[in-house]
Amino acid sequence: MTERAYTALLVEETDDGIRVRLNRPDVRNAIDAVTTRELHRICDVAEEHPRILTIAGGSGFFAAGADIGQLRARRRDDGLRGVNARLFSRIQALPMPTIAVIDGYALGGGAELAYACDFRIGSTLTKLGNPETGLGIIAGAGATWRLIELVGEPLAKEILLTGRTLDAQEARAAGLLTRVVKSEQLDTAVEELRAAILKQAPLAVQLTKRVMHAPRAAHPFVDELAQAVLFETEEKEHRMTAFLERKRAAGTTQ
Ligand code: COA
Repeated sequence: MTERAYTALLVEETDDGIRVRLNRPDVRNAIDAVTTRELHRICDVAEEHPRILTIAGGSGFFAAGADIGQLRARRRDDGLRGVNARLFSRIQALPMPTIAVIDGYALGGGAELAYACDFRIGSTLTKLGNPETGLGIIAGAGATWRLIELVGEPLAKEILLTGRTLDAQEARAAGLLTRVVKSEQLDTAVEELRAAILKQAPLAVQLTKRVMHAPRAAHPFVDELAQAVLFETEEKEHRMTAFLERKRAAGTTQ
């Protein structure tokens, strides 16, 4: 396990994963400049050595959005810098799957961080929403387009234009949460999901994710390229041979 110094995050790195916990409970994990900077450092690590990334919050809250104290001071040039938007796009593009673990409120930028992850596992306490228009701003870190992709335009409009917050059941029904369990079962649910991903061939997982994120016009060429790369791997040879031998062995014992 590797330890590095973070102040807004608790981080545990192992060979098969990076587990991050947002750690500003006094402000319900509001995402400030330090959190953003440290999440970029997590991206450095995850890009350098691709592993499954889990991002969790506290008990009762994932993240209550961008830090409103800092947000109030931002001006035109800060808006154009797209601080959280760029970070969340980087997280979305990480090579291995990412999992948001949401045990309570995920609002504003907190929800957008979760939308940028590949999987969202919630508890019965989960509440997701984007109250930005109520604060006089746009949900500018991905919700205007990612949420449409995730839940469709009608519900995305309700969330973004009326400030509607979804509870866990509504979010699950909309497909926004992959799974909902009791808070005390969240760790097990995350480990089950991680175990399912870890059973797959790592390069096949990475390339599938990248190909899924490629623009429509790039298909099917990117699919063909990725497949050509994977057809040359020992891992594919090994996995397919193992399957065929298992079948042959089962056939001879019948
Ligand atoms: N930015 C900065 N500080 C925040 C914050 C945010 N987004 N969300 C919460 N906090 C702070 C509160 O100001 C409060 O600070 P204080 O203890 O110094 O008064 C502390 O976190 C606890 O918040 P509180 O509202 O008392 O907790 P709660 O558990 O009753 O409610 C929320 C939690 C998340 C429902 C509520 O804090 C909230 O609505 N936050 C704002 C959400 C939002 O609009 N986000 C969009 C930002 S773009």
